Amino acid sequence: MLPRVILHNSVSLDNAVVGFDIDIGLHYEILLSFSPDALLAGSTTAKTGIEMFSDSDEPEVPTDRHRPPQDPGDSRPVGVFVDSRGVLQGLLHFYRRSGHFRDVVVLVSATTPEAYLAYLAEREYPYIRCGEGRVDLAAALEELRIRFGVETVVTDSGGGLNAALLEQGIADEISLIVTPAIAGTGQKNLFRSVHTSRDLELISSRELGGGRVHLRYRV
Ligand SMILES: NC(=O)c1ccc[n+]([C@@H]2O[C@H](COP(=O)([O-])OP(=O)(O)OC[C@H]3O[C@@H](n4cnc5c(N)ncnc54)[C@H](OP(=O)(O)O)[C@@H]3O)[C@@H](O)[C@H]2O)c1
Repeated sequence: MLPRVILHNSVSLDNAVVGFDIDIGLHYEILLSFSPDALLAGSTTAKTGIEMFSDSDEPEVPTDRHRPPQDPGDSRPVGVFVDSRGVLQGLLHFYRRSGHFRDVVVLVSATTPEAYLAYLAEREYPYIRCGEGRVDLAAALEELRIRFGVETVVTDSGGGLNAALLEQGIADEISLIVTPAIAGTGQKNLFRSVHTSRDLELISSRELGGGRVHLRYRV
């Protein structure tokens, strides 16, 4: 059985995930209201996040190289990063030290460079290796549930990973903060690479102020 998977995004009225003013505080407040056991991020989102919100030149220090002690009473989610290509090599300490996660886990595949796997092992980052080229998302989520007790996953990703989760029938719910803005052409659209049509059932709609609306749909 897979964990429950919620795709959570702030979108413009023309369904872009970038190119308009995102209320970051509100975005994470609503994300955390789902009480996720894990936050699932794609490597592009994770790298962009470091560039946007941290000093990406800040070096790793010796304490960053060890897995923090795991406390069963810690209610923070696990940060889970899809990264078959090793894009986050040399960067994961930003997430380990952020204080937002009780642990940092990486999903990799059979083709992931050995140098990246060595980087993860030397620093005690748990990883799940499944899938040939790309990560087999369903199998990885199943293993996350078994090994880390993850029952609810909320995504913190753009259109790449979220579209794959929807396309592969893994997503249970879509949560959108619709923002009163048009991002215009050239911006990344959320479900740009979804090919299969799906019916959705509205769970709730709520006005958030500032013209924003929170919509939740069951897939
Ligand atoms: N508005 C919002 O709510 C919001 C939220 C988060 C991010 N963003 C923005 O979105 C942008 C990034 O979005 P993005 O779509 O380019 O990147 P992304 O969401 O990070 O997606 C890329 C990740 O998805 C994985 N992936 C894609 N297709 C896959 C498949 N079929 N099977 C397995 N894994 C797959 C890739 O795997 P590999 O490891 O194999 O490459 C990669 O790790 C950034 O600009 C960020 O700021 C917006």
